[in-house]
Amino acid sequence: MIFVFNWKMNPTKKEEAKSLFGFYYQSLKKKNLKKIIIAPPFLYLPLFFKKGIPLAAQNCFYQGKGPYTGEISPLMLKSFQIKYVILGHSERRRYAKETNEEVAKKAKVAIENNLTPIICFGEEKKEKNLREKNIFSQLKPFSFLFQKKFSQKKIFLAYEPVWAIGTGLPCPLVEVERIALKIKKFFGQENFTNYLFLYGGSLNSNNIRNYYSSLVDGFLIGGASLKKKEVKKILTLVNS
Ligand code: PGA
Repeated sequence: MIFVFNWKMNPTKKEEAKSLFGFYYQSLKKKNLKKIIIAPPFLYLPLFFKKGIPLAAQNCFYQGKGPYTGEISPLMLKSFQIKYVILGHSERRRYAKETNEEVAKKAKVAIENNLTPIICFGEEKKEKNLREKNIFSQLKPFSFLFQKKFSQKKIFLAYEPVWAIGTGLPCPLVEVERIALKIKKFFGQENFTNYLFLYGGSLNSNNIRNYYSSLVDGFLIGGASLKKKEVKKILTLVNS
């Protein structure tokens, strides 16, 4: 199981970020440092990149360099030895109006630069009959992954139903498993199998154990990643 902790736009002070990161570091056994990934805001990445816990950026641009004010290049992430990048999180889709096509373009450039994208997808509303239709229209632009040159590249696919994010209402495991199987079938047909399937949405130290399943390879954790008590309990699971 891999645990990705998404700090989103928190905490607001450098000292708090250092203290939180230090808490993760101390709570993990040395041999387990690589079992988690922390995704802090961009500005904090340089503070932590040498400590041995893999880091993820929360976004990057689809160009390497140039006149793109305010953007961060995958090449810059690479130069700080960042290996992962979260792409297409529903909050970026909502507030920065990112489209499926843009997210796919970012993923392509990230992979070309040897970053592992953590691609988020998931339906907005809890409408069971539309769920698969919505999900597969989100994933359609990612068919570039079926090209030979991408077929061995590793990616993470994070199923995050929007209605489950930050609401305290996680998606039941059976439904997560159903989506995992559909994804397996979708990619399996094209022999693209080098991906990990993650679930995210209202996970915490009480419910995360219920999501241990042979179809789920890991978790994307938002709110709970900022609370030391929660982090401690989740990292106890990682250590066990
Ligand atoms: P949450 O967020 O754990 O607070 O629901 C998950 C996410 O946005 O990745």
